[in-house]
Amino acid sequence: VILSQDELKKIAAYKAVEFVQSGMVVGLGTGSTAKHAVDRIADLLNQGKLKDIVGIPTSKQTHQQASSLGIPLSDLDTHPTVDLAIDGADEVDPDLNLVKGRGGSLLREKMIEGAARKFVVIVDESKWVPYVGASGAMPVEVVPFCSKYTQDCLQKIFEYAGCVAELRTLSGGQPFLTDNGNHIVNLFFKSDVGDLRAASDAIHRLPGVIEHGMFIGMATAVIVAGESGVTVKNK
Ligand code: A5P
Repeated sequence: VILSQDELKKIAAYKAVEFVQSGMVVGLGTGSTAKHAVDRIADLLNQGKLKDIVGIPTSKQTHQQASSLGIPLSDLDTHPTVDLAIDGADEVDPDLNLVKGRGGSLLREKMIEGAARKFVVIVDESKWVPYVGASGAMPVEVVPFCSKYTQDCLQKIFEYAGCVAELRTLSGGQPFLTDNGNHIVNLFFKSDVGDLRAASDAIHRLPGVIEHGMFIGMATAVIVAGESGVTVKNK
């Protein structure tokens, strides 16, 4: 049997939800993989197999999905400690560092997943990369004020890696707006940027930057679904 990519995403998501226990505060991720986890949590709540779950959604989109399914929701102000967060990723490197945000969310994800005791990442095997940025854009959320200037600064920082920086736009050409009303600059690297912490610090030194999509050392486990089965990689 050849499984579709969406079926693999669902397998990884269902596996992660096995770690959810009654009474937990759960960070709810964003994207096509995390969507399956949210559906599954709602099913288990409806079946009475899970009780007293509080969900902390990482985007407006997930808030909408989870509230329509009847999952009780809260936020970090009220629940500053998250027991478990579950989310997808655009890339996973050999050290379990991630690229996230190609769907447009990254700031709320990073806040909530950073507050979680355990952060379980769910992916199909296509997300494995040899180094961060190998399969496409590394998104950076920037303030709209003079975002072209910030974009140019970002490109210069990573000139050594052949970086091309592009403002994410909608089909009409206007800037894409995040849930927080900011712009996204996509960084495309021709080669490995090297030290990710140094890269992260350099990005954060720019005043116009809000946050970037590299999630360094944050994942406690990565669940990978592939044709040959499910594997769990722990940090
Ligand atoms: C949302 O912008 C992202 O950070 C997602 O977590 C990431 O894009 C993974 O999405 P898919 O599960 O749809 O690939």
